[in-house]
Amino acid sequence: MLIATRDLTKSYDLGAVEVQALRGVSMEISEGEYLAIMGPSGSGKSTLMHILGCLDTPSSGSYVLDGSEVSGLQGRDLARVRNKKIGFVFQNFNLLPRIDLVSNVSLPLVYHGSMGKAERAQKASEQLERLGLGHRLRHKPNELSGGERQRAAIARALVNKPSILLADEPTGNLDQKTGREIMDILDGLHREGRTVVIVTHDANVADHAHRIVRFEDGAVAEDRGNGGPR
Ligand SMILES: Nc1ncnc2c1ncn2[C@@H]1O[C@H](COP(=O)(O)OP(=O)(O)OP(=O)(O)O)[C@@H](O)[C@H]1O
Ligand SMILES: [Mg+2]
Repeated sequence: MLIATRDLTKSYDLGAVEVQALRGVSMEISEGEYLAIMGPSGSGKSTLMHILGCLDTPSSGSYVLDGSEVSGLQGRDLARVRNKKIGFVFQNFNLLPRIDLVSNVSLPLVYHGSMGKAERAQKASEQLERLGLGHRLRHKPNELSGGERQRAAIARALVNKPSILLADEPTGNLDQKTGREIMDILDGLHREGRTVVIVTHDANVADHAHRIVRFEDGAVAEDRGNGGPR
């Protein structure tokens, strides 16, 4: 099993109140799956994705990623796992505004240590070219359309060659046509063998996945297949 969580909880202590964002999430994701997570606003989807993506840690419970328990890791150790295994795509792209696309996409490679600047730029450029942005290498994010920004963000997510791609509402800020283009890209990445997990409110987007997990109130309310492989 590539991903296995057991009784994951996450609570936020806001002084007077405690918010329980996750109330015991146990789920397994096999290598090569294409999974969509749906559910109402506030049901804990992003919270789970951030934990799966090693961007955040649970309050309790276990998370075994590719055979290793990672729920107790923090800081640098967590970042190392994230860098090696996971690409994360956000609704709002999360590109750094002051630097160009090559620099944005190079960033995850900086944490590699051994790679020189020229090689990093080369790898970033190749990844951007693969996503159809070869003519925008030296542009800054605000000089791009939403779809181009999201493609650049996907390039950044892929530059370390992770086997898992997590996308939290990747089409949420895009028009329908551009959203479909992004989904074509994610479909292709899944066909190439990556494990893809996507959060969406859009049934058409979720329909690309082979399995749909519905969240309610910080827990899995439904987990079902979505037709056969497409
Ligand atoms: N940093 C935080 N501090 C306090 N509460 C938080 C924090 N992040 C999330 N929450 C709370 O945790 C719950 C789950 O939030 P989460 O962002 O996971 O929901 P979501 O399912 O992704 O919603 P949406 O569909 O609107 O993106 C919400 O009640 C939210 O207010
Ligand atoms: Mg969310």
